[in-house]
Amino acid sequence: MIQSDQVTQQLVQRALQVRRRAYAPYSNFLVGAALLGSDGQIYAGCNVENASFGLSICAERVAIATMVASGCQQIQAMAIALLGDGSPCGACRQVLAEFGTAFPVFLVDATDNQLRHHWLSDQLLPDAFRLKTNG
Ligand code: THU
Repeated sequence: MIQSDQVTQQLVQRALQVRRRAYAPYSNFLVGAALLGSDGQIYAGCNVENASFGLSICAERVAIATMVASGCQQIQAMAIALLGDGSPCGACRQVLAEFGTAFPVFLVDATDNQLRHHWLSDQLLPDAFRLKTNG
């Protein structure tokens, strides 16, 4: 299900807002992410870089950690704000798949607010790795 236009707009606005808080002095590439949890709350995150580059964390994973720490473990929808026509990195796609299968990911270009949207399960990460625990 695609969320109502109003909820989508809220998600997009939160992603654009939190993007301005990104700590990205090394790449200067600011990213903001906002998740709609199954509890109806919005959880936001931005990328946080480090002088030891490999320790940097993407906006998407910060938002997911915030959601989980707040007691929610299911994603209904997501918005990601960045410059240009980028999309989430492979590592974040796998982490997103941990907390939901079919949900829309809205990608907003922070220069002109142009919106694209993809489904995680169809376009971004079909056939995600999952641990089979029942034999
Ligand atoms: N980045 C994200 O926050 N999300 C992505 O999906 C891709 C990349 C961040 C990591 C780093 O701080 C900067 O963008 C440049 O790679």
